[in-house]
Amino acid sequence: MHAVGIVAAAGSGLRLGADQPKALVPLAGRPLVCWAVDALRAGGATDVIVAVPAAERAAFAAVLPADVVLVDGGASRTASVRAALAAVAATADAVLVHDAARPLTPPAVVARVLAALAAGARAVVPVLPVVDTTVAVDDDGIVTGALPREPLRRVQTPQGFDRATLVDAYGRLPDGAELTDDAAVVHTIGVQVATVAGDERAAKVTVAHDLALAELQVAQ
Ligand code: CTP
Ligand code: MG
Repeated sequence: MHAVGIVAAAGSGLRLGADQPKALVPLAGRPLVCWAVDALRAGGATDVIVAVPAAERAAFAAVLPADVVLVDGGASRTASVRAALAAVAATADAVLVHDAARPLTPPAVVARVLAALAAGARAVVPVLPVVDTTVAVDDDGIVTGALPREPLRRVQTPQGFDRATLVDAYGRLPDGAELTDDAAVVHTIGVQVATVAGDERAAKVTVAHDLALAELQVAQ
């Protein structure tokens, strides 16, 4: 199977609060985006396309391998993935969409997603169980009830898709639509989304504490 990896790296990282785009922030001395590209390749992606902030293209080119294709991202994650998807070769069978902000994703997670695609799934997401009691609240923050935890899952990346299915779904998505992940995009055209086991080590770096945890993980 010819699988192309897309890395969404065009965010600014407001919540991390660094003085550069989050994807360029170092983890054990290497930018997050480099870790994410390596994970995709180690797990089976052959080509990688990275969506970067347009103004920072040179900085990304300086740290990424020369065979990684860079495209200008957009104002939202959805727009960035859409731009990268336009650069995916029509000969690819599968597309893996990954967050640069998940640097320590084990290659085994990538491989599980690819295996599910090879077995016939059109869309696959890695998931983890919800371990905390999860409640709904009203506008005043008052708890209205606990949600049954058993059917809930936390969704990670990389998310894998049959290429034609993902292209079709993005093609039908209105300009300016903003969805938080790509499974949500294919869900809008009624495609069934399968799940495989995710991994706590694939956690997203969102705030400074997450980066500190990632540093500890590398040092282990
Ligand atoms: N992303 C992107 N293009 C955007 C916004 C986000 O490619 N316009 C990417 C980010 O680079 C990141 C991933 O989507 O790898 C997940 O987004 P998030 O963790 O929210 O990153 P940021 O948007 O950069 O962070 P923040 O929301 O704190 O500003
Ligand atoms: Mg964001």
